[in-house]
Amino acid sequence: MTETPHPAATAEDVEAARSALRAVRQEVAKAVVGQDAAVTGLVIAVLCRGHVLLEGVPGVAKTLLVRALSASLSLGTKRVQFTPDLMPGDVTGSLVYDARTAEFSFRPGPVFTNILLADEINRTPPKTQASLLEAMEERQVSIDGDPRPLPVPFLVAATQNPVEYEGTYPLPEAQLDRFLLKLTLPLPGRDDEVEVLARHAAGFDPRDLAGAGVRAVASPEQLAVAADAVRRVQVSREVLGYVADVCRATRQSPSLSLGVSPRGATALLSTARAWAWLSGRDYVSPDDVKALARPTLRHRVQLRPEAELDGVSVDAVLDTVLGSVAVPR
Ligand SMILES: Nc1ncnc2c1ncn2[C@@H]1O[C@H](COP(=O)(O)OP(=O)(O)OP(=O)(O)O)[C@@H](O)[C@H]1O
Ligand SMILES: [Mg+2]
Repeated sequence: MTETPHPAATAEDVEAARSALRAVRQEVAKAVVGQDAAVTGLVIAVLCRGHVLLEGVPGVAKTLLVRALSASLSLGTKRVQFTPDLMPGDVTGSLVYDARTAEFSFRPGPVFTNILLADEINRTPPKTQASLLEAMEERQVSIDGDPRPLPVPFLVAATQNPVEYEGTYPLPEAQLDRFLLKLTLPLPGRDDEVEVLARHAAGFDPRDLAGAGVRAVASPEQLAVAADAVRRVQVSREVLGYVADVCRATRQSPSLSLGVSPRGATALLSTARAWAWLSGRDYVSPDDVKALARPTLRHRVQLRPEAELDGVSVDAVLDTVLGSVAVPR
């Protein structure tokens, strides 16, 4: 399904959409303490129509964050726990036989939503992972040769647990590249953790977001206007060159065995554009590219075993790469 363009959006509409998207941050903050980078990353993913990987240990508010975001954008959300026995049809839906009419009818799976929280995607075997990845890529589900379009927007937020690798099916590199961003949710600092506790002490119920005051601050129409405006953000030839140089430099890095693909470079261009737009500009600066380099590129490169043994992190390598590339002025 192609998205309806918004040629009729006036400058005021675009400004209203920008304010609304910025207000999402405050709205989510009514439920989630901190985790600003993840909130911004999710808003950028929604604007770019991309999918995200969420990484963080259990209990750092991954689920709460996705639910609060959906509520503040008036989008639908569903959650699937990926288990070793989950079948492709449990994700996409399946044909069920109706004895009364003696016909098969399609029962849509949880993938038919706006924001799908795919929890612990690496616990399910490749066949079921593939069915989700196919839906992500094609934005439709084909059952029995019959294509059924997914809602617009459609975004998968897939969680991976960084501590447990035993008995899991890690996504292959080619699949990781299909995620626009990889957002990491760190453990909160002490002040934030005390604030989480204070809210609980005051009666905060994570299942009742409306009770916590979370409201829809951006409409689906505003989201469409915003996504359209992002695609019209200007990028100079120099900044395009900078994006290319950063990605090319990852392929030369002695710490990496796999560098960023050209698809990764286009992803960095998209996320930098969305960030520029959210920041109130209609052109991309090299700083926008720098700001989005870590979350956009970190899952698209692979550390060499030596670097891993030395305890070097991917983010640190990306910082070194950024430091080595000449910035256009
Ligand atoms: N930053 C935070 N702000 C507000 N509440 C938080 C925060 N971190 C944790 N909590 C509290 O911890 C609970 C657990 O969070 P949630 O279920 O969203 O974690 P999760 O990361 O999805 O965990 P899992 O990996 O087990 O699914 C929340 O409902 C909330 O009460
Ligand atoms: Mg969860």
